[in-house]
Parts: sequence; structure tokens; C-alpha cells
Amino acid sequence: MNQQIPALEVSDVVVRFGAVKALDGVSFSVEPGTVHSIIGPNGAGKSTMLNVLSGVYRPKSGSVRLGNQDLVGLRADRITKLGMARAFQNLALSGEQSVEENLMLGRHSLTRTGFIAAGLGLPSARNEERRHRGRVREIAEFLDLTEQLDGPVGELSYGGQKRVEIARALAMEPKVLLLDEPVAGMNAGEKRYISSLIAEIARSLSITVILVEHDMEMVMSISDRVTVLDFGRRISDGTPAEVQNDPAVIGVYLGTPSEKAS
Ligand SMILES: Nc1ncnc2c1ncn2[C@@H]1O[C@H](COP(=O)(O)OP(=O)(O)OP(=O)(O)O)[C@@H](O)[C@H]1O
Ligand SMILES: [Mg+2]
Repeated sequence: MNQQIPALEVSDVVVRFGAVKALDGVSFSVEPGTVHSIIGPNGAGKSTMLNVLSGVYRPKSGSVRLGNQDLVGLRADRITKLGMARAFQNLALSGEQSVEENLMLGRHSLTRTGFIAAGLGLPSARNEERRHRGRVREIAEFLDLTEQLDGPVGELSYGGQKRVEIARALAMEPKVLLLDEPVAGMNAGEKRYISSLIAEIARSLSITVILVEHDMEMVMSISDRVTVLDFGRRISDGTPAEVQNDPAVIGVYLGTPSEKAS
């Protein structure tokens, strides 16, 4: 196991929206450098959990530990600096700007000399920028975006834009990558491509991936572990095989025994 990457430990997290308990005491542990999926029906609390991990929502109680650090109560930008990166939706990409500039935006949290030095054209800033551009090119290559680097993001296919989102999150050099439905709306070929890419991000780049996804084929093929939520509660947790054979999970997905909504 890679000692550089911290484990992620979620304990007893509670989030309420008025009368709705979006998360009702959810706990799970994530091994470093693995793909850990969170699944469950609509409204189960999956996106809420990602928002807790990234610091967008502060839970009413519970803890989120990345290595030795408790993230609860820290500002979202601080949590990003500690290594938690999220692939945002298309809206957050700047469509008129080039792929390269969008990836450079992902590196802003890493810049040391900052914008004032850069604006003054100081040599230290120029060197730093060159280093960042070099790294952005490597990341683009990893995601097969080299030929698209100079073109505007807005002209890419839907799948291409999704890849830029992931590339920009990787440009933040995260320890943990949070993905909310990365293959929604993609065709089968694009799904396969993104699936193998996510597996490679965990295995080759040693980045922990937290994946929220409805596509069960994808989840079961690339996850090391799966946590299943329903109505804000953890109803199952284990390897893909364990979870698929768990009667509680089968019940929720087939809508048989419980009070499943919709
Ligand atoms: N900002 C909010 N304000 C009020 N209620 C919210 C808010 N965000 C989520 N909820 C509610 O919390 C519950 C969990 O929502 P969440 O978005 O986490 O579900 P999800 O598992 O991501 O569902 P989906 O699969 O549809 O994306 C739902 O009942 C939802 O209506
Ligand atoms: Mg959601």
C-alpha cells in the first residue's frame, strides 16, 4: 500500500434539510488508492455525501477524516488544498476558453507566486507557469486530450467535455477524486473509456476515487468496494460481489420489501 496517500474515514455523518434526513448516521472507510463507489436509489443521499466530503455542506454531526485531519468545519477551498478534488459539471467549465486554459484554472490552488507576480511578469512567476503548463500537458496526454488543448472546450463533444472536467480535477493534484455520475448521458463506448480511465487513475496514479454512479455495470466492474445508501442510511457495504448478493440491496433495487419511494 502506498504510504503517501491517506485513508478516508467517514463516521456517523448526519445531514438534515428541514424534516428530511439526507444522511442519517452514515459511516464507511476508504482504502487509499482504491475505487470506492456510493450507490443507491434517487434521493438516497449520495450527492449530499459528496458535498460533505468536499466541504460544501457541513454535517450536523459526525466526522470525515483524511489521514490525521478532520475535515468537518474546514472551508471548501481549504479541503481542496488538503487534496480533495471534485469534477464539476459542465457549467463550471469556461466554454470559450481553451482546454489548456481550463486545465490551468485547475492549478490555481497550487500556484505559489500568485497572480500579482505573474501580472508583473517576474521570472519566478514565469518559471512557475512553465512548470504548470508542462504538467497540464502530461495530464491532457493521460486523458487523450492533447490534440484538443488549443481549441475551445465548448466545441468538444459531451464526452470530451466530461474528460476535461476530470482532467481539471486531476490538475489540482488531488489525493482523493470525487466523481458524481461521470458517465451520465454517455454512449456505451464513451462509458467504457471513462470506466477504464477511472480504474487507471486509482491504480496508476494512486489517487483514491469516490464514485457516485447509477450505471451498475460500471460500478460493479471497477469498484474495489461499494457503500449502498437508501433514505440516508447505509444499508450495505462490501465488495461488489458481496453487495450484489445482499438481500437488503436486492430489495431496494427491485423495490420489493421496503417502502421504496418512486
Ligand atoms: N439543498 C437541499 N435542500 C433541501 N433538500 C435537499 C437538498 N439537497 C438534497 N436534498 C434532499 O436530500 C435527500 C438526498 O438528496 P441527494 O441529492 O443527496 O440524493 P442522491 O442520492 O444524490 O439522488 P440522485 O440519485 O437523484 O442524484 C433528498 O431527499 C433530497 O431531496
Ligand atoms: Mg445525486
